[in-house]
Amino acid sequence: MSHQALWSGRFKEPLSAIALSFSSSIDLDKQLYQEDIAGSIAHVEMLSATRILTAAEGRRIRTALKVIQKEIETGKLKLGDEYEDVHLAIEQRLIQKVGAIGGKLHTGRSRNDQVALDERLYLRTAVKEIGKLLAQLQRVLLYKAEKHFGALMPGYTHLQRAQPIMVSHHLLAYISMLERDYDRLNDCLKRMNKSPLGAAALAGTSFPIDRHKVARKLHFDGIVENSIDAVSDRDYLIEFVSACSLIMMHLSRLAEEMVLWSSKEFGFVQISDAYTTGSSIMPQKKNPDMAELVRGKTGRVYGALVNLLTILKALPLAYNRDMQEDKMPMFDVVSTTRQCLFIVSHILIHTKFDRQRMEEELRNDFLTATEIADYLVRKGVPFRDAHAITGKIVSHCIDHRMYLGNLDIETLHTFSREFDPDIFDYMLPHKSVEQKQSAGSTSPNEVKKQIVHWTRVLKGRRAL
Ligand code: ARG
Repeated sequence: MSHQALWSGRFKEPLSAIALSFSSSIDLDKQLYQEDIAGSIAHVEMLSATRILTAAEGRRIRTALKVIQKEIETGKLKLGDEYEDVHLAIEQRLIQKVGAIGGKLHTGRSRNDQVALDERLYLRTAVKEIGKLLAQLQRVLLYKAEKHFGALMPGYTHLQRAQPIMVSHHLLAYISMLERDYDRLNDCLKRMNKSPLGAAALAGTSFPIDRHKVARKLHFDGIVENSIDAVSDRDYLIEFVSACSLIMMHLSRLAEEMVLWSSKEFGFVQISDAYTTGSSIMPQKKNPDMAELVRGKTGRVYGALVNLLTILKALPLAYNRDMQEDKMPMFDVVSTTRQCLFIVSHILIHTKFDRQRMEEELRNDFLTATEIADYLVRKGVPFRDAHAITGKIVSHCIDHRMYLGNLDIETLHTFSREFDPDIFDYMLPHKSVEQKQSAGSTSPNEVKKQIVHWTRVLKGRRAL
């Protein structure tokens, strides 16, 4: 059953059922009911404080709004698709409850500033929750980095074995990535946390409203000054979604490494049974589906970013109904990012690292070839010559189906007279790691410093 729309005065015909069903957004925006009611309460309190409404009118509306919130929460008021959107549904219910006075709530306000307010409130909460989930994942990574301190693994470039690194160092790289995500979210919060309410449709209002008072009541840092900008702007949402896209990109890389590392080919980790699935046909299979889904869901978030940028592209000022289409990507990004951060923390905590296997792989290869070149450099050989000599040694090993560890000093002397028996020390993976001197490197000292740093940073941060 359709209600008579609150805006129907100038219309001779009601909105067709087809048009209503096409244009209604309530199915999605009903998720904003708390924000909508909080915004309305702040607005009505300001209306009575500025004597635009009487104190008694303000109180009645405020009380009724709180009852409506309960009605929604208990399921007594169904936000069904006979309404155009959550804003009209709540206002309609208010008028039903308190009569014509309810119609005074919308004084000096429009749905255009109302919806922008609701979104900013909703996203502000989302930023805080995602911030906590980021901190939670950083803590899991830190825990694993501490636990496996001392363990070595092959580091890769081009997905080819490059140099030995500390497992902790690799995990700490993700903590740094997630920290930038955290900073980005907090940075976009600065611009998001401004109140658009009181911009009304676009031009402001002739009532002596106090926009700053509403902003303070809702804990905003101020107001969006220009009323036209206040109702046209969706930058805060696009910035948020772009920050989430980077989070998802980082998670997809971690998820991909989980997929690769848990394969037989790598065998570096074992994800617990509880976070993997079997095959309906191949009895031996144990698939890393959760990690794969994180990788896959990244596409949804990127899609949402492009979706939003495209909705806003070339849109004339100020409000246009196109903007209603921002709801689907907004809600989807918030829930997808939250779910993925949450599951990745769980996958990781339930993953065992096979230290022995990782270190085995270090021995049977050429990962310390750079150390041989550096050794020669320290003996005065120019780096380019040292690189060429070492390349020849590697090529020799490949031809003779052997690794660096199988070489003897006589053979090495055929490549350079600079080699002394201590060269064999330098070829040891743990020696290679310990040799590193530069800041932020994979040496145990530098890695330890990072662990200490992140322990301090994360200590003061709220996680879930
Ligand atoms: N449901 C609309 C949206 O989400 C609310 C604003 C509608 N304003 C209007 N003038 N039709 O964008």
